[in-house]
Amino acid sequence: MKKIDVVLGLQWGDEGKGKVVDVLTPDYNVIARFQGGPNAGHSLVFDGDRFVLHTVPSGIFRKDSVNVIGNGVVIDPVILMDEIRAIEQKAGDITGKLLISKRAHLILPTHRMLDAASEAAKGKSKIGSTLKGIGPTYMDKTGRNGLRIGDILSPEFQARYDALKQKHFGLLAQYDFQYDITEYEKQWMQAIGELKRFSFIESELVVNDYLAKDVPVLAEGAQGAMLDIDFGTYPFVTSSNTMTAGVCTGLGVAPNRVGKVMGIFKAYCTRVGSGPFPTELFDETGERLRQIGHEFGATTGRPRRCGWLDLVALKYAVMMNGVSELIMMKSDVLNTFKTIKVAVAYEIGGKRVDYFPFESGEEVTPVYKEFAGWDCDITGVRKYEDFPQQLKDYIAFIEAETGCPVKIISVGPDRKEIVIR
Ligand code: GDP
Ligand code: IMO
Ligand code: MG
Repeated sequence: MKKIDVVLGLQWGDEGKGKVVDVLTPDYNVIARFQGGPNAGHSLVFDGDRFVLHTVPSGIFRKDSVNVIGNGVVIDPVILMDEIRAIEQKAGDITGKLLISKRAHLILPTHRMLDAASEAAKGKSKIGSTLKGIGPTYMDKTGRNGLRIGDILSPEFQARYDALKQKHFGLLAQYDFQYDITEYEKQWMQAIGELKRFSFIESELVVNDYLAKDVPVLAEGAQGAMLDIDFGTYPFVTSSNTMTAGVCTGLGVAPNRVGKVMGIFKAYCTRVGSGPFPTELFDETGERLRQIGHEFGATTGRPRRCGWLDLVALKYAVMMNGVSELIMMKSDVLNTFKTIKVAVAYEIGGKRVDYFPFESGEEVTPVYKEFAGWDCDITGVRKYEDFPQQLKDYIAFIEAETGCPVKIISVGPDRKEIVIR
């Protein structure tokens, strides 16, 4: 019996999960998303094309791959169908290679409105949500009100949809918020009809069956550890468990069936939306990272906040995810930096703290270690031995601090721009 391998983000999302999953898919027959929804934007670059996936697993472009949207995912049918149409323009009909869990929850048009109304009401303390309806949908899931993919096939679907919509209208009335769902609702119902050509499955049975038959399965995370509903910088987080534990609940795989856990991080750090970010740079260096790294959101286009690598947060994420190997992304973005800094501890109220604390807001000052930059272009490097010594030193330090080997180093956005040790 095979174990399920996992790829997930260790920072605040956008680490490069889409690219890594696309690169690894030739080694896996099945790719499965286990949480999140269209708040995710996973970019794939190959053959001169660029794709951003939101709900569909990043294995979809590889021949013969099976792609599963698991029960832990929340689905907006309009966004999913748009995405499918874009994929099919490049890859042809994907009906046979995309399977959707009957237990995955549906994002209703009114969930999106509730997300927007809630954010508007929060004013300055807003989460910076992607406004895709993620929070309200997971609220209805845990509140036991939600509608699921499997319900689409029920003769009572329309009645249940109407009842939930009415409930949402009641909630929306409490906000000073103008909205009109007429047009989106029309698209939504049409997309629901179109989705019926795909197989709605008991994904927990299907995934476990693949594993029992020794078929390699890769779980693809969305967001990142620091956006986890329990361990992230609450309340500035998303509404799902983004960590390895989420693989078990989001796919129905037992903890002892989890195999390799590959944790992805950027050679520096970014965050989009509000909330604590101890190593954030507000100066010219931060702006340089943003410009060179093209740090603008794949889903919302918002500029991402940029800063140095935070080893305190990274070690915390490695611990809770049980990371067995690390993958460092966007190393090339640091090509022209003369010095590179890494936070190795925090100072809080004059005391040195070397763990990620409950309080992670403005009162935290990072303690940095400085490294000499490599100051040369590494985009063309394909063998670890050919990396400049400064980069090897940087990697060795991260390995020593985290106790995890860095197995893959990404040196550019394209599928081919990768160094595997
Ligand atoms: P994800 O959400 O984790 O899949 O990451 P995103 O796709 O939101 O953001 C990562 C961005 O970095 C995308 O624009 C990628 O094309 C790009 N990218 C990925 N790896 C590299 C890399 O090694 N170097 C550079 N320069 N860009 C990269
Ligand atoms: P990927 O999978 C980066 C952030 C939002 C906001 C907070 C809550 O591409 O890495 P939500 O819409 O979930 O209610 O937003 O989480 N966020 C992400 N940031 N990458 C993502 O996904 C994100 N998904 C949500 O910006 O701060
Ligand atoms: Mg992204």
